[in-house]
Amino acid sequence: MEIIRYSVKERGKLLKDIPVLQKMCGYFTPLEEWLLEKIKNASDILYAVKENEILGFLIADKKETHLEIELICVSIKGREIKGIGTTLMKVAETIAKEYRLPEIRLDAQFEAEGFYKKLNYTNYARDDHGVSMKKAINA
Ligand SMILES: CC(C)(COP(=O)(O)OP(=O)(O)OC[C@H]1O[C@@H](n2cnc3c(N)ncnc32)[C@H](O)[C@@H]1OP(=O)(O)O)[C@@H](O)C(=O)NCCC(=O)NCCS
Repeated sequence: MEIIRYSVKERGKLLKDIPVLQKMCGYFTPLEEWLLEKIKNASDILYAVKENEILGFLIADKKETHLEIELICVSIKGREIKGIGTTLMKVAETIAKEYRLPEIRLDAQFEAEGFYKKLNYTNYARDDHGVSMKKAINA
């Protein structure tokens, strides 16, 4: 399996993948318009690919104070392989370091709190939409 990081310049070719990416997220299906906007403008898009099949993806956006994980999803097949989500999150940590940002955050997430806890993320806020979590990055 390889992790591919797409620069903003290369994003046009990813738009055809939107239906595949939507399917990957289980019952939480991201809106097409939302994905379109993120694919075009988010600072970082990662794909986990094996034999030309996308098994997972991560969308992150560079903010002034932190790197925001906008979305991470692994396909049903990818979840059987184990470790793909963890690998994508580790690559996001190296990206935060590259940007010299001290923190990674994810907002209003409700489905996979246990997954992030295993990666040492802690809760810092909670509202009706879910919990917000963060992790300090040693630059
Ligand atoms: C959450 C998700 C990205 C994790 O990816 P993954 O490749 O399955 O995760 P990993 O194989 O790296 O799992 C690492 C650990 O987290 C655990 N874990 C995985 N998904 C979990 C979840 N939803 N809740 C709690 N723990 C979870 C695994 O069991 C594993 O534990 P272990 O180390 O004790 O075996 C993936 O399951 C997914 O896409 N889920 C649907 C969409 C979603 O919930 N996205 C996140 C919210 S936006």
